[in-house]
Amino acid sequence: MQSFKPGSDYLAGRTILVTGAGDGIGSAVSVALATHGATVVLLGRTLAKLEAVYDRIETEGGVQPAIYPLNLEGATEHDYLELAEKLDEAFGRLDGLLHNAAQLRLLSRIDDYDAQTWYQVMQANLHGPFMLTQACLPLLRRSQSASLLFTSDRLGREARAYWGAYAVSKFGIEGLMQVMAAELEGSNVRVNSFAPGPTRTKLRALAYPGEDPSGLQPPEQLTGYYLWLLGNESSAVNGRMLDQQSKLFAQLHNA
Ligand SMILES: NC(=O)c1ccc[n+]([C@@H]2O[C@H](COP(=O)([O-])OP(=O)(O)OC[C@H]3O[C@@H](n4cnc5c(N)ncnc54)[C@H](OP(=O)(O)O)[C@@H]3O)[C@@H](O)[C@H]2O)c1
Repeated sequence: MQSFKPGSDYLAGRTILVTGAGDGIGSAVSVALATHGATVVLLGRTLAKLEAVYDRIETEGGVQPAIYPLNLEGATEHDYLELAEKLDEAFGRLDGLLHNAAQLRLLSRIDDYDAQTWYQVMQANLHGPFMLTQACLPLLRRSQSASLLFTSDRLGREARAYWGAYAVSKFGIEGLMQVMAAELEGSNVRVNSFAPGPTRTKLRALAYPGEDPSGLQPPEQLTGYYLWLLGNESSAVNGRMLDQQSKLFAQLHNA
């Protein structure tokens, strides 16, 4: 996204919740959102990592973020409602919700796939995002123009052997996105999914342990897509399954 260079106040006044904000793509995107004017709620399961992102945002002169430690794997409906209540008290609304957290855990053929791991992956990658979205919908509806953005994977659009619950959860995420985009069509909440290409993160290293990571794009290279999708520029875009090759972005490259 070479040609999309928004100013430091591009997201001024917007409050955006990012899950999995402590590492990889989520941390790079959170820093970019905050340094472009958004108040970011950093949600993740490892407090020290969230604090490190908080410090980076401060060092880079971004808007002061908030931290909300939560493990999506074990969180219940009650936890999500409590989170929504606290967001309501602090901000009164949400302008963006980026579902970024996900876990792979292992690669295995279905014959041997551990059932407990399957349950945990589905909980963190699909059921958690459903409950979080449901709890946050009243807050998103209060925004003038809210962006609900799910993170997918090309494996959630065309599966491959051994990707088990991870791939299936991403198919579920695409389904949830489409159901919600249809339900919210014409409202102030737009719903889309974005599948990043291979990116230098821990999740990628777990899937491809023998790969030389130096050839992969760093998470920072993706931030333009997320800024565009979470800002008002994309307010007319709804129900789209996007990736870095999407024609929509080619237009921006050439702008
Ligand atoms: N990297 C790629 O090549 C690639 C390609 C396609 C799609 N994606 C998608 O991009 C998103 C980000 O992935 P990434 O590559 O940046 O992975 P990552 O570096 O492993 O980061 C994932 C983040 O999610 C958090 N997380 C995982 N399970 C969680 C849970 N149960 N509760 C709360 N937070 C949890 C992790 O927290 P901890 O740090 O505390 O573990 C971490 O901060 C994922 O949705 C992934 O499917 C990535």
